Amino acid sequence: MDGTLQLPATSPSDTDALIADALAGLTQPEKSLSPKWLYDHRGSALFEQITTLPEYYPTRTEAGILRDNAAALAALVPQGGALVELGSGASVKTRTVLDAGAHFGAYVPIDISRDFLFETSDDLRLRYPTLDILPVVADFTRPVDLPTSLEQTAKVAFFPGSTIGNLVPERAQALLAGVRAWTDTRAFILGVDLVKDTRDLVAAYDDAQGVTATFITNILERLNREAGADFDLDAFAYRASWDPDLARIDMHLVSRRAQSVSLGGQVVAFAAGEPIHISAARKYTADSLATMAAQAGWSVATRFTDGQERFAVAVLTPDPAA
Ligand SMILES: C[S@@+](CC[C@H](N)C(=O)[O-])C[C@H]1O[C@@H](n2cnc3c(N)ncnc32)[C@H](O)[C@@H]1O
Repeated sequence: MDGTLQLPATSPSDTDALIADALAGLTQPEKSLSPKWLYDHRGSALFEQITTLPEYYPTRTEAGILRDNAAALAALVPQGGALVELGSGASVKTRTVLDAGAHFGAYVPIDISRDFLFETSDDLRLRYPTLDILPVVADFTRPVDLPTSLEQTAKVAFFPGSTIGNLVPERAQALLAGVRAWTDTRAFILGVDLVKDTRDLVAAYDDAQGVTATFITNILERLNREAGADFDLDAFAYRASWDPDLARIDMHLVSRRAQSVSLGGQVVAFAAGEPIHISAARKYTADSLATMAAQAGWSVATRFTDGQERFAVAVLTPDPAA
């Protein structure tokens, strides 16, 4: 597999990094865990389940926008160029763009969820036998090494799912600036969820079937499974809330009682009612999107939305002045 970066399955260094990162977050005055640890194989499968829930409008809304504008989006990639997707997951919506992109030379899905990424890539190779599928296992909050074979290839970045909203603003800006610095990057197709009625927003992250709660709690299960922690899963409750000042949904696990948990040779104490911040999902307006893009050297060339302005797929182009 030319250019493919493969990491060994859950290496000791992955576990060390998981423990170190978890302890760093859980020993802060306001406890937190990084959302990137939500995505082991089980987490990725649970996220796919979330995308089919009636309350979770973002996936089907974005899928509709991609379907309606697939030809225009595919045309951003020049003949033989590469579509490079960040946080590709199951690449389901991406297939709409790949279907319209017979002229693409390569598709590069980048994801932290290693086994899920490779399973998805195997499936894509069967669906698109003439396209180079070059998966990269990487953390997109750090500089990503793209396959060296693509150094001189024109690239279009693709970051759907409003995953950018999971990043704190400085990280989001660093990611946008990092992609701007890739060689020969022609455009950045960015999916962002838009500010809307609070009830619709909260329901999307707190579904009636409790799939999102299971997805978020999987981070504690993962710490038990991979890092030998002893979280009592029933002793934490899931809570999703809207912060109008930061325009974001916050996802917490709240300790139901005073308790102590062992992790990596340390004991972490929780007070009754104490929250762990697990993930945030920022929502955007046309203005906040344009500001974020401009701060990282991009201009919003086009903004495709659905009829109800629930979600936007923006085409960013490099700002020559930046
Ligand atoms: C919200 S899901 C979106 C999946 C898919 N792009 C979609 O739109 O349905 C986020 C994806 O990003 C991946 N991911 C999360 N944090 C990551 C990180 N720091 N580096 C690389 N991938 C990450 C997850 O494994 C997951 O596949």
